Amino acid sequence: MTIKKPCVLVIHGPNLNLLGKREPNIYGKLTLDEINANILDKANKLGIIVDFIQSNHEGSIVDALQEAEGQYKGIIINAAAFTHYSIAIRDAIAAITVPAIEVHLSNIYKRESFRHHSIISSVVYGQISGFGGSSYLLALEAVADIISNES
Ligand code: DQA
Repeated sequence: MTIKKPCVLVIHGPNLNLLGKREPNIYGKLTLDEINANILDKANKLGIIVDFIQSNHEGSIVDALQEAEGQYKGIIINAAAFTHYSIAIRDAIAAITVPAIEVHLSNIYKRESFRHHSIISSVVYGQISGFGGSSYLLALEAVADIISNES
């Protein structure tokens, strides 16, 4: 008998495709490809399959969230700037039953006041903020924990 590995969707929001050259003093020097490679490495160790999406478009992220229902056991989302004002993304997370973890590379509470409020934090399972690329790895551990508690 083969046991199917759980699948997790990682969603990267706007401007995260520029990581590596985008404000490296805030977001670090790792590119998105390097971050994704580290996530894959960790996922292999945890026995999880990961799919990735990066989009600069709010509607594409809403579509991805809606389509995740029934396909994924967990979602890791860095909604980037949408975190602070997208009611559509907030509502899409609330509309699905897949647990979502909110991540940020930077500590949003240490930065400009407009970043202190996350509109999605009230509908996610939990939030990890401020650990650079490792925020995603910590989120993956959290998702693995949620999945193992479910089964
Ligand atoms: C971010 C923080 C957001 O405020 C910002 O708009 C981003 C990235 C982070 O990962 O630290 O684009 O989500």
